[in-house]
Amino acid sequence: MNRTKAPALSFRGVRKTYGDGATEVRALDGVDLQMSPGSFVSVEGPSGCGKTTLLNLLGLLDVPSAGTVEWDGTPVGRLPERERARRRLTGVGFIFQRFYLLPTLTAEENVALPMRGAGRPAAERTARARALLESVGLTGRRHSRPHQLSGGEEQRVAIARALANEPGLLLADEPTGELDRANTESVLDLLVEAQHTTGASLVLVTHNPAVARRATRHLTMADGRIVGDTREA
Ligand SMILES: Nc1ncnc2c1ncn2[C@@H]1O[C@H](COP(=O)(O)OP(=O)(O)OP(=O)(O)O)[C@@H](O)[C@H]1O
Ligand SMILES: [Mg+2]
Repeated sequence: MNRTKAPALSFRGVRKTYGDGATEVRALDGVDLQMSPGSFVSVEGPSGCGKTTLLNLLGLLDVPSAGTVEWDGTPVGRLPERERARRRLTGVGFIFQRFYLLPTLTAEENVALPMRGAGRPAAERTARARALLESVGLTGRRHSRPHQLSGGEEQRVAIARALANEPGLLLADEPTGELDRANTESVLDLLVEAQHTTGASLVLVTHNPAVARRATRHLTMADGRIVGDTREA
């Protein structure tokens, strides 16, 4: 896994509003943030404070309403949607609280899917999907469909899928929210190990202080702003 190139990320005066007039919601309200490649950052804050919105902007799922988001110095708001989609597919791995595996595909097919989008040959996709499932301890379940897997197993498949294209940026939105303690630990170990071995940046939204402690930089959000930013010595 050496194709990873973690982007340098920069937010300047970023605002994100939804709706307009009386229904306008300021999901992000002036966010400034620099993140160097290979960072491991936790994001905490109350429900509705803008954590998922921040992740969506980091991962090029969305663009700011005002201010600038830059990837390696390129303002992403000015990229055509097609180019944003290409960077997202090859450069970002998303892991959500609910796993969003495709129910009709097996574990192996779910993991292989993003590689198809990236145009990798079929034989390579299958071999890599197997290797990834092995790395998350699911070799024996590779032909199972999501409904045949436990929550922890589904999340491990989702992690394998997120790693498929060797992304430089891993975005995890409460990835352990629905898991028990043992599964939380193993899912977290996998994410930390992936971050470590690939040199990717990892941004992890969590309500669990024990999970946040694994990160080396801790952001706290409130009302669409970053109100705390501490780093381990
Ligand atoms: N598509 C949308 N349309 C309108 N408002 C939205 C949309 N997405 C988010 N919001 C609003 O933006 C604000 C921030 O939402 P966001 O999802 O980023 O919060 P969050 O910190 O992730 O919350 P949670 O911990 O509950 O997941 C909230 O007030 C939310 O209602
Ligand atoms: Mg959220």
